[in-house]
Amino acid sequence: MRVEVVENYDVLSLRAAEHVAGLIKSKPKAVIGFATGSTPLGLYRQLIRMHRDEGLDFSGLTTFNLDEYIGLAPEHEQSYNYFMWDELFGSINVNPELVNIPLGTVDDIEQYCQEYEEKIAAVGGLDLQILGIGTNGHLAFNEPGSSLRSRTRRTILTADTVASNARFFESADEVPRHAITMGIGSILDARQLLMLAGGAGKATAVKASLEGPLTAMMPGSAMQLHPDVHVYLDFAAASGLEYHHHDGIAEPKG
Ligand code: PGA
Repeated sequence: MRVEVVENYDVLSLRAAEHVAGLIKSKPKAVIGFATGSTPLGLYRQLIRMHRDEGLDFSGLTTFNLDEYIGLAPEHEQSYNYFMWDELFGSINVNPELVNIPLGTVDDIEQYCQEYEEKIAAVGGLDLQILGIGTNGHLAFNEPGSSLRSRTRRTILTADTVASNARFFESADEVPRHAITMGIGSILDARQLLMLAGGAGKATAVKASLEGPLTAMMPGSAMQLHPDVHVYLDFAAASGLEYHHHDGIAEPKG
């Protein structure tokens, strides 16, 4: 794992954007997995700026999003589809036909999830998957207890995830309890992972994921199985780490 610890969220967002932009420039038809949540917002703002000011061209990209609430239509303001168009896709020149976000209103979820996997495979797999991490260690909606080899499927949100996401809804009662999510196995199939975490609230999950035992109870720890992971942390999110991490080497502190 390559772990880069930077002073604050703005630097983290810029570094992550440079990483993504580097891939797009070297491979204009790259396949990139996008994530929702507060964490990647700074990265997305930087990508929009790079498009506007530097002509970064997204037109050849194929995109896949990690997850979506079951029951929310794409036009629902709290759907992840709405989020992606509002926060990123609507302000860059992606080809809408190459944008893939799970649809939370399908009838046959199982069939749909299998087709989502097949669609990723048909374009040759993901070159890069962008990831945040939950305070409970979840990756996408793979909550603690998710199999490390899980695939795209219907999942149930834990109570702490519902509580955490309630801030975007009128009340916790309105937060959907179910989601479609790419599995941990699907995420690990991406050729490269880009994980971002900022703030002290993530320090415990970051420490457990990077330095703790590999366990389904800490989905973030599954990243230890992946050969090419880039982690960008601010000082607060890195504050629980017992090791200095640099250039893929972990060295005990002190
Ligand atoms: P956040 O969510 O970026 O809003 O903190 C991350 C996550 O739950 O995966």
